[in-house]
Amino acid sequence: MATVVSKTKVPFFLHDLGQPELDAIAEVLANPILTTGEWVARFEQRFADYLKVSQAIALTSCTGAIHLSLAALGIGEGDEVITTPMTFIATATGIIQSGARPVFVDVEAETGNLDVSRVEAAITERTRAIVPVHLYGQMCDMRALREIADRYGLFIVEDAAHCVEGRRDGVRPGELGDTACFSFYATKNLTCGEGGAVVTNDRQLAEKLRLLRLHGMNKNANDRHREGYQHWDMPTFGWKYNMDNLQAAMLLPQMERLDENWHKRAELARTYETRLWDIPHLSRPVTVPGVDHAWHLFPVWIGGNQRDRVIEKLQSQNIGVMVNYRAIHLLTYFRDTFGFREGDFPIAEKIGDANLSLPFYPNMPREHVDQVADELTRVLERSA
Ligand SMILES: Cc1ncc(COP(=O)(O)O)c(C=O)c1O
Repeated sequence: MATVVSKTKVPFFLHDLGQPELDAIAEVLANPILTTGEWVARFEQRFADYLKVSQAIALTSCTGAIHLSLAALGIGEGDEVITTPMTFIATATGIIQSGARPVFVDVEAETGNLDVSRVEAAITERTRAIVPVHLYGQMCDMRALREIADRYGLFIVEDAAHCVEGRRDGVRPGELGDTACFSFYATKNLTCGEGGAVVTNDRQLAEKLRLLRLHGMNKNANDRHREGYQHWDMPTFGWKYNMDNLQAAMLLPQMERLDENWHKRAELARTYETRLWDIPHLSRPVTVPGVDHAWHLFPVWIGGNQRDRVIEKLQSQNIGVMVNYRAIHLLTYFRDTFGFREGDFPIAEKIGDANLSLPFYPNMPREHVDQVADELTRVLERSA
């Protein structure tokens, strides 16, 4: 059994991959097809069943899933796509890769999610799509967003990198969006190191996505293995985003413990919340009524200009932390390319200056939660 070890006293994240994944990989290695094949098809079916969508297409990243979704929907040069600046850069770079321009809309102060009430004001005649992000695992208001998108004839591509398990008012990722995009990056709730998927209920769109994920070729290596070599065609231009059997084999056993791990993280979040509620300068994103939070990350907001000092203190105690995220419109590339400036999206900027993600993963020991809470209390009470 593989056991992961970390040099950090309180690690930010540890994966729980072990014997089931090693066994699954060994099965693939006993088979001639390492690239996209039977295991990928099995994972796609299992993932689609979990999300209750008809189609899942496994890819190499969520960034690729966002890019391919927009490309498959015919979005490109000259188009605008509305999204949030409080996200990982990949949400916007996926849009840029399609040829479209990202148009940011500020976020809700209570959640950090795209503020749906501001979306209409950002729609122009060039707008073709909206890419909401279900930040930290809390879904955006998809019913309200779908209503706006339908009124203006826009597509919705959900960035659900943080939200496999979550729901809002009974709606799951992929249910109201034209597509939903997922990440299986190293620290995600499901991981194969690097990987992703796109889901949809539109069969025709799924066919197009399957073509576009592999150069636009209409046959793949698995077809050649099954049917022998046959000439293939390239009916359209495509990219190289296909998941391989090894990645899919690693993901399949994790599907069996996805909900168990989700419940473990929910329990951890409750423990953190009881420990952190009365610390000076510290607040938390609100979980909106009707939301079943996927609990991907556990961020706190540190006010009073203390965030970076707290990072230093926690790191000096060998406690792993991250910032998810500093508002992305203020990163050099976005400033230089699109002319964004401080003050453009003040709520995202305020959250970006306060954000701090605490150690959080399903098998995190309770003592580590206590150590993090004790250290935060010590640092922030001293400065109050
Ligand atoms: C919100 C969000 N969107 C997109 C991505 C990109 O995912 P990937 O690394 O699979 O391309 C990430 C990954 O960290 C993310 O957190």
